[in-house]
Amino acid sequence: MDEKKKNMLSLIQPTNTPHLGNYLGAMRNWVKLQNDYNCFFGIADLHSITVRQDPVKLRAQIKESYALLIAAGLDPEKSTLFIQGHNQNHAELSWILSCYTQFGELSRMTQFKDKSEKHPDNINAGLFTYPVLMAADILLYQADLVPVGLDQKQHLELARNVCQRFNGIYGDVFTMPEPYITKTTEKVMSLQEPTKKMSKSDENLNASVWVLDDRDTIIRKFKRAVTDSETEICAREGKDGIINLMSIYSAASGKSFEDIESEFKGKGYGEFKLAVGEAVADMLAPMQNEFKRVSADKSYLEQCMKNGAEKAFKTSRKTLSKVYKKVGFVTF
Ligand code: TRP
Repeated sequence: MDEKKKNMLSLIQPTNTPHLGNYLGAMRNWVKLQNDYNCFFGIADLHSITVRQDPVKLRAQIKESYALLIAAGLDPEKSTLFIQGHNQNHAELSWILSCYTQFGELSRMTQFKDKSEKHPDNINAGLFTYPVLMAADILLYQADLVPVGLDQKQHLELARNVCQRFNGIYGDVFTMPEPYITKTTEKVMSLQEPTKKMSKSDENLNASVWVLDDRDTIIRKFKRAVTDSETEICAREGKDGIINLMSIYSAASGKSFEDIESEFKGKGYGEFKLAVGEAVADMLAPMQNEFKRVSADKSYLEQCMKNGAEKAFKTSRKTLSKVYKKVGFVTF
């Protein structure tokens, strides 16, 4: 770890394969950040069981998500790439922090309210204390910066409150984390309902593009994307479907909105949708090839996981030991 660099941490949940929004909003940006920060990136397996999971599927998805981090271009030598459940410090600190988090503040979390409505038969305590575990993830590594999407900002705010409360009692134990919002925080909308975010749990199979979809599937999904009854390709208000396709095309090709408007002046939606599909397929192809290569090499992946777990443990244990002393536990 380079002491001069700031620490950055973010995790993704291994529920389902990442979609285009996860790739553009998280994974792709992480790759650009790994030279400038001490990065801790990982798979939040502990968080994922707040919703019932099939064990066989979950195990496969954890491995897949981990391999995808490497395939996307994250370097396991440069960054700490780890699986949350491989480092018991997360669960330990989470317990401690839960004693410094108020029932009232957890009750105000909008994601808890949403998820409780979605799964009324399984409103478990883990779903409620989920943000405490997330605070532990962040504070364990003394993260200065946390790249998150807007949906996680409230959880990060809670981590900041817990941090301030704990430091207020015991002195400077944790670094105060800041949200890291990239200028290009791409917000990818559903291809079927462009006013809704692209989601991992959408039941409409044409709504989301998975990063491991093959070329034909990607192009087919874009061909079927919902637009509007006009003909002009421009970013006018009310044209949510076209705006979504334009921003995806822009993210995939690097072209500006003006460039895209002039490129498709007088051309039809069909031609535009095909161009977007092809650009996305081209963008994802190198990662998909890398994924095939990396996942075939089981011993390499396992070695990366082990190294990642070790590095994660070492860094985070320093924080946890400090916490144990501060709260008054007996250590030896
Ligand atoms: N809750 C985050 C999500 O669902 C994942 C997550 C877990 C996370 N721990 C984190 C994100 C720590 C940032 C920092 O997207």
